[in-house]
Amino acid sequence: MDMIKTFGEAGIIPVIVIEDIEKAVPLARALVKGGLPVLEVTFRTQCAAEAISKIKSEVPGARLVAGTVLGLEQLAAAREAGAQACVAPGFDQEVVRAAKALGMPFCPGVATASELSQALALGCKMVKFFPAESAGGVKYIKDLLGAFRWTGVRFMPTGGVNLSNVSDYLAVPEIVCCGGTWIAPKDAIAANDWTRIETLAADAAKLAKARKC
Ligand code: 3PG
Repeated sequence: MDMIKTFGEAGIIPVIVIEDIEKAVPLARALVKGGLPVLEVTFRTQCAAEAISKIKSEVPGARLVAGTVLGLEQLAAAREAGAQACVAPGFDQEVVRAAKALGMPFCPGVATASELSQALALGCKMVKFFPAESAGGVKYIKDLLGAFRWTGVRFMPTGGVNLSNVSDYLAVPEIVCCGGTWIAPKDAIAANDWTRIETLAADAAKLAKARKC
């Protein structure tokens, strides 16, 4: 997967936490139907790998990204499940190097200039800026760009991003896309409220599309 291209076309990526495997397919269907095909399925729960492979085989059009890939075991599981890219909230040299060796596109998390320097030194072209709002939001990214724009680095902010602030992020050309859980809220998943999730995805997709025009 060309991460920058695929993530950029989506503009907004739902960050998904699946506790119950039965929810994986209907949740993914609602998100894709709403207009958000790139899904970050986080390795925060036991069934993450199973969810990725199930969605991959049962939801046409879904593009699977493994999230919260903190270690080598999760990287291997994500690959085996069929994830096309991996994302992490932090920067771990060993995992970034291992992903590179496997040919797995990997987007590590950074929140400081030093972490960004290290990620760039390992050849990362895109980083997750996490936790975006707490770490300084759009202004902080713009300040980082003052020193790093020439490198061509691209950002995917997540953490505290939502419908009310996502357009501010997407207005920055170096921000490829934003991620967030607001599109797949825990209570809506628990209630099997796929209509609400489809609506949230459609609202988000509309904003992402507005940026592209
Ligand atoms: C992530 O891993 O990207 C975050 O948990 C998303 O943060 P949010 O819940 O504030 O969207």
